Amino acid sequence: MAGLVPLPPFCDQACRERMKGAFMAENWVRVAAAQDLAEGQVIGVRVGERDIALYHLAGGEYRATDNVCTHEYAQLSEGWLEGHVIECPLHAGQFDVRTGKALCAPVEKDVETFEVRVTGADLEIKLPG
Ligand code: FES
Repeated sequence: MAGLVPLPPFCDQACRERMKGAFMAENWVRVAAAQDLAEGQVIGVRVGERDIALYHLAGGEYRATDNVCTHEYAQLSEGWLEGHVIECPLHAGQFDVRTGKALCAPVEKDVETFEVRVTGADLEIKLPG
């Protein structure tokens, strides 16, 4: 069957569980305490080599995007959050933080987004595998 990788003949039940776990693993990373991000605010956090902008939208929703503008180098967390739109502090380009969509010139390229979840008192983002 196309798309399936055959298991090696020596793979027992424990081996199958490990392989399943490896393919199903999700890369959730704690990035902040929820109390550190007030509603209507944006903060920048560092996750390994990544610069992430975390948003707490009015109504309680959390979002995350890459923190670096796709136009030139500026940190979106230094910009202005209005509803679900972040305005870049350097040339006023705007992105929809829910989708990453570039909304107006000079930005033309969308910004990467990440899933966010609240786990207890913490905010976690899901990094690509
Ligand atoms: S650096 Fe963000 S709009 Fe130019």
